[in-house]
Amino acid sequence: MMQVITPLFLASLVAGHGHITNIVINGVSYEGWDIDTFPYESDPPTVVAWGTPNTGNGFISPDAYGTSDIICHENATNAKGYATIAAGDKVNLQWTAWPDSHHGPVITYLANCGDSCETVDKTTLEFFKISGVGLISDTDVPGTWGDDQLIANNNSWLVEIPPTIEAGYYVLRNEIIALHSAEESDGAQNYPQCFNLHVTGSGTESPTGVLGTKLYSSTDAGILVNIYSSLSTYDVPGPTLYSGAVSVTQATSVITSTGTATTASGDSAQTTNSAAAAVTAATSASTSTSTSTPIAVPTTLSSSTSAEVSESQTATAIQQESTSSSPALTTAPASTIITAPSSASDAAAGGSVQSLYGQCGGINWTGATACTTQAVCSSMNPYYYQCVASAA
Ligand SMILES: *[C@@H]1O[C@H](CO)[C@@H](O)[C@H](O)[C@H]1NC(C)=O
Ligand SMILES: *[C@@H]1O[C@H](CO)[C@@H](O)[C@H](O)[C@H]1NC(C)=O
Ligand SMILES: *[C@@H]1O[C@H](CO)[C@@H](O)[C@H](O)[C@H]1NC(C)=O
Repeated sequence: MMQVITPLFLASLVAGHGHITNIVINGVSYEGWDIDTFPYESDPPTVVAWGTPNTGNGFISPDAYGTSDIICHENATNAKGYATIAAGDKVNLQWTAWPDSHHGPVITYLANCGDSCETVDKTTLEFFKISGVGLISDTDVPGTWGDDQLIANNNSWLVEIPPTIEAGYYVLRNEIIALHSAEESDGAQNYPQCFNLHVTGSGTESPTGVLGTKLYSSTDAGILVNIYSSLSTYDVPGPTLYSGAVSVTQATSVITSTGTATTASGDSAQTTNSAAAAVTAATSASTSTSTSTPIAVPTTLSSSTSAEVSESQTATAIQQESTSSSPALTTAPASTIITAPSSASDAAAGGSVQSLYGQCGGINWTGATACTTQAVCSSMNPYYYQCVASAA
């Protein structure tokens, strides 16, 4: 029996998992899909992010890899506008605070939409991989992963649009796959997020891609995997990395202004809806400072000189690359309690109570073992107990 849940309570539910709040291109920040408000609105704002009714901030399980939910999240609908970026420029994807128990790879894809990403049928999109960072170091099991690098990078992920791809309209798909329960069948958790980009430039390549529903199988070596045993290698799931992919050193992007989604891409007709027209007008006003023309301000702190990282390198080799190019990584906490408080009771208990979705037990766990009032501690596996909603 479903209990009545108020929006206020839902807000506390979002503490444990994650989604992307905004993206930053050359200093211009574009709003993402706000799961706390947009799903409740009959006419949500036009943003560059794909929409989803997933107010619970949840994930897609391997048993749904063959469904359209794996493409851009649960029941996702096309973003109603896009952001413009030049091929060779970088986009920074700002996630909500990622739980550091949720180790796993961070993977990014592009798919060409043809005339319009606002109207394209998502089940026809063919994704090619432009970045995939899996196991970085396994010296301290369960290891340091792409998501740990993301956490150390202010919970954000920097990716470069390959300079070699042809101009056009693309869906960018950024995904974290949490593997903390992945040694069990159907235990991996996929968090895909999609954005519409208008890529400019003079590239000529149109890499072949894979349908979203064909990206993964529940038995892939990088999906059904026990991260609590020592791993010598880890296969980043999904198709082979595009040969033109460019590896970047993770860095944050300074926000210098706010951009709005551009509407009516390609040749599609202008809508007569007055609200949409207002958005278009507002976009026109800001376009001169936010489109592909390089802006003469330092927008990212990254260097583009880092060595290419092949996905098939061993963990040791990747560790060397990462250590030399990403000092921030060394500050990534190996195993700490999730600190995001989810309710007043957490604060009252002085932090000895774990929040919803936080770790509450398992081999070698030294943090809180009690859960916040709406949650109970449940054993996911011998290594990981998690606070889960008590009445769900
Ligand atoms: C997604 O769509 C299915 C089928 O219509 C529905 O049962 C489910 O509740 C939807 N999910 C959300 C989060 O709205
Ligand atoms: C770090 O992330 C927060 C959002 O969580 C953001 O407001 C802030 O601007 C980011 N800092 C940098 C340097 O990117
Ligand atoms: C638990 O800690 C012991 C001692 O540090 C270590 O040998 C062992 O590998 C740890 N187990 C796990 C699953 O991390």
